[in-house]
Amino acid sequence: MAPENEPTHRDFIYSLRTVTEAAARAAFDWIGRGDKEKGDGAAVDAMRAALGTLPLSGVIVIGEGEKDQAPELYKGEELGGGGDRVDIAVDPVEGTSYMAKGLTNAMATIAVAPRGTMFDPGPAFYMEKFAAAPVAKGLIDMSWSVSRKLEVLAEILDKRVEDLTVYVLEKPRHRELLAAIHGAGARVALYPAGDVAGALMAAIPGSGIDALMGTGGTPEGVLSACAIRALGGEFCGRLDPQLTTEKASVAEAGLDIERWYGVEELAASQDVMFCATGITTGLLFDGVARCGGHYRFQTLMISGFTGERQVLTNYLPVVEN
Ligand code: FBP
Repeated sequence: MAPENEPTHRDFIYSLRTVTEAAARAAFDWIGRGDKEKGDGAAVDAMRAALGTLPLSGVIVIGEGEKDQAPELYKGEELGGGGDRVDIAVDPVEGTSYMAKGLTNAMATIAVAPRGTMFDPGPAFYMEKFAAAPVAKGLIDMSWSVSRKLEVLAEILDKRVEDLTVYVLEKPRHRELLAAIHGAGARVALYPAGDVAGALMAAIPGSGIDALMGTGGTPEGVLSACAIRALGGEFCGRLDPQLTTEKASVAEAGLDIERWYGVEELAASQDVMFCATGITTGLLFDGVARCGGHYRFQTLMISGFTGERQVLTNYLPVVEN
C-alpha cells in the first residue's frame, strides 16, 4: 500500500488541498484591486511552488490561461517532488474578473488523476457543456432540443420544468440558448463568469441549480468533468471553437466539433481527486478571510477513490514577511 501522502492513497486529497489553499492565499492579496493579471500570476506562482512539494510526478495537462494570454502553469510542464505519475489540471483563479472586482465566486481549483487519463483538448479553447445530477447520468441525449432535455430532466428529478434552474454564462453567444430555456418555461441563473461553480452545483443535488448549459472554457470543462466524475454526476462536453484562429487550429488538428464526449472520456479514471478553495465567498463555500493571527480557508474536496465530498475549514497562522 502506498504511503499516506502519495496520490494513489485515499488520504492524498488532504495534501492536495494545500495547493489550492496556497493559490487562494496568494490571490487574496489581489481581491478588489482591479488587476486580474497580477492576482492570477501570484496564484500561479504559489500553486507551482506548492505542487513542487508534493510526492508526485505530475504533468500539467490542463493549464488554464492560454486563451486570455494570462499567467499560467503551462501544458506539458512537469511538477512535483517525484512519485506516482499523474495528470494535473489547474485553474489557479477560476473567476479572475470576480477576484479583481472584489465580487463573489472566485476560487482556486485543481484535479489530479492517474497519468494519461485526462482528456487533451488540443488547441480548443471553448467547449459546450451540459452538467446535471448523478440520477440523470446517461439519460439525456445531447442531440435533443433544449426543451426536450429539460422535459426529461424534470421527469428524472421529479420536478416541473417551471421549477428547474439552469446555470448559464451571460454571453452574447447564448442568446438562442436563453430563449430556448425561457421558452421551455425553466428559470435561468445568469452569471457573467465561473462555469466550474455552475457545473459543480448542477451535479450536487439540493444546490439550487439543476443543470449547466452553454459554452465556456475547455480547461474549465475538463476540470469540471474531473470533479463530476468523482461525484458520480453527469457531464458532457463538445469542442465549440469561437475564435477565428482557434477554429482554424481545431480544424487543422482534425478534431471533431460535432462529437459530444461523455464524462468517462473526459476523465477516464475513477481515481480522480478535485479540490477548490474559495478566494472570494461563493455559492458553495466561503472565501479567504484574515481573522486575528490566522487566515481562514474553505476547500471543497471531492475524491473519486471514496466518493466523498467534504468542505473543510482550515486556519493557518499569518506569517509576516
Ligand atoms: P477566468 O477565470 O479565466 O476569467 O475564466 C472565467 C470563465 O467565466 C470560466 O468560468 C468560463 O469557462 C470562461 O471564463 C468563459 O470564457 P469567456 O469569458 O472567454 O467566454
